[in-house]
Amino acid sequence: MNVAAYFDKLYRPPERYWWRRGDPYSADPDDYPTSLVTQLTLGLIRDRVPGRALDLGAGEGADSIRLARMGYIVTAVDVSEVASEKTKSFAADAGVDVNVVTADIAEYRPEGRFDIVICNGVLHYIEDKAGVIGRIQAATRPGGINVISSWTTFTPVPACHNSIPVYSDDENGVIAYLYGSWNLKLKYFERNKPEASHTGMPEHSHSHIKLIAEKPTP
Ligand SMILES: C[S@@+](CC[C@H](N)C(=O)[O-])C[C@H]1O[C@@H](n2cnc3c(N)ncnc32)[C@H](O)[C@@H]1O
Repeated sequence: MNVAAYFDKLYRPPERYWWRRGDPYSADPDDYPTSLVTQLTLGLIRDRVPGRALDLGAGEGADSIRLARMGYIVTAVDVSEVASEKTKSFAADAGVDVNVVTADIAEYRPEGRFDIVICNGVLHYIEDKAGVIGRIQAATRPGGINVISSWTTFTPVPACHNSIPVYSDDENGVIAYLYGSWNLKLKYFERNKPEASHTGMPEHSHSHIKLIAEKPTP
């Protein structure tokens, strides 16, 4: 099965797969006690003027729609058609516009400069991480931020995830390396976290690199 078909199947039920609890679009960092990255991202951009946002591997669009509600002009990219349709429908329900693109981010070329690029839970499906990161770094304006969460090799890929290729990164692998010269707001290795959101799968854990980085100004 390819990655698009895998996520199409996962997302096809009309109910939400991710972010089932609470308001997924709140801009208040305190509303995300279990998501360090969302808390810190919202705290960081709270006092910034909203600009352009790019959400790669946007899934059902929670991050995109939250940013659109905060006034950002948002492009959401996902390889799954079903994800794209759900993002469009959830954005309409929330009363915001999101530019939704169905594309493989290994091929996708962002247009123009962005104030924030989010890549939440997707880079472990990408073999050529350096290619994707190079493009998003180039598409980030100086002072803009990149937000990344991706699986690391600290936990081997559980068997229940073996139906599609997974390319976890080492904790000090290409992701950490490529942000070495950016201003790090967060670099956190979350290890062996029990996974609670994968409906229908046996108990398992993941390890992650969580990184928020600001592009240096020249
Ligand atoms: C774990 S989900 C995360 C969704 C969303 N970012 C979130 O945090 O709720 C990973 C998403 O990445 C998408 N994806 C995986 N590989 C991709 C690729 N090569 N190009 C674009 N999207 C991809 C999947 O379709 C899926 O929606």
